[in-house]
Amino acid sequence: VIAAARGQGKGSVVTSLLDGKATAAVVKAQVAAQALSLLQAGQPAGLAVIQVGTDPASTVYVRNKRRVCEELQLRSFAFDLPADIEESALLHKIEELNADPSVHGILVQLPLPRHIRTELVVDTIAPHKDVDGFHPVNAGKLALGRASGFVPCTPAGVVRILDHHGVSISGRRAVIVGRSNIVGKPMATLLLQRDATVTVAHSKTRDLPELLRSADLVVAAAGSPELIRGAWLQPDAVVVDVGIHRTADRGLVGDVAFSEAAPVASWITPVPGGVGPMTIAMLVNNTVLAATRALSATQRASTPGEA
Ligand code: GUN
Repeated sequence: VIAAARGQGKGSVVTSLLDGKATAAVVKAQVAAQALSLLQAGQPAGLAVIQVGTDPASTVYVRNKRRVCEELQLRSFAFDLPADIEESALLHKIEELNADPSVHGILVQLPLPRHIRTELVVDTIAPHKDVDGFHPVNAGKLALGRASGFVPCTPAGVVRILDHHGVSISGRRAVIVGRSNIVGKPMATLLLQRDATVTVAHSKTRDLPELLRSADLVVAAAGSPELIRGAWLQPDAVVVDVGIHRTADRGLVGDVAFSEAAPVASWITPVPGGVGPMTIAMLVNNTVLAATRALSATQRASTPGEA
C-alpha cells in the first residue's frame, strides 16, 4: 500500500490507495484457474466481443478485453463490424452467437452508432450470455437480489476493490454521483445489498458539495473531469473514482480532483490504476461464470434418471 502523509498537521493519519491493479491481478488469477479447468473439461470459456465502427476509445477497450481473454486462456471471438451496418444485421449476428454453444458471453461495446437502437441490441442478447449485465432480466434480478443473473462489471469491480482492501461497506453513508444504467443504478443496488445507506446524486441534485459532506463513501461516476473537489469531502471519506478522461494538459484524470481529495480521504482510488483494471477482471469473471453454468446445464441434461 502506497501511503501519502496527510496534511493539516494530523500526525500519523495516512491516505491509502485502493489498488485496482493488485485487486484485478487476484481476480484474474482466480479466473485463470477456472478457465483452465473448463479447458480441461473440454469446454473452454468463450467470449464474443463485438465492436461497431472505429471509435478510438472503444477500440482500446475492446483490444484490452480480447488481450485479457487470451492471457487467461479464454477463447475470444472478435467481430469488428462497419459503422454503417444495418441494425437488423447486427441483431442477426447476436442471434447467431446466442445459438452458438462455444460462445458463453456476448459483449457489444457501447456506445453504438446513432442509427442503431441500443435497447433493442441489449434486449437481443440472451440473458444467460449477457456478461455485461445490461439485459433487463439481469438488471431485474440484481434489483431483486437474485444471485442467478450477471452483475455489471464496473460496479461489481468497485465492491471487489473495497473488499480486497478490507474497507467496510455496511452502515456507511454512501453517495453515488451519477445515475447511469451501467454504473450508478447497479452501484446503488449493490451497496444497498451490502447494508450501506445509499443516496444517488445526479446533474439536477441541489448543492452536491453539501450532500457529499454527509458521505463517508463516495462513488464518483458522473462523467465529468475533476468535478468533485477535495473541500467537498468529509475527512476520512472513502473515495472511489469511476471516471476516466483524457485531458490535453493533465493527462488522464477522473471525476475527482485527486490531488485535493487524496489528503482528505482515508482511502482513494488512483486514476489510472483504480477502477479501470477491475472492469475487465470482472468481465472475464462473468464469462467463466457463464461457461461454468453452461457446463453444469449440459451435465444435468445428460444425466439420466436424476430427479
Ligand atoms: N462502454 C463503456 N463501458 C462499457 C461496458 O462496461 N460494456 C460495454 N459493452 N460497453 C461499454
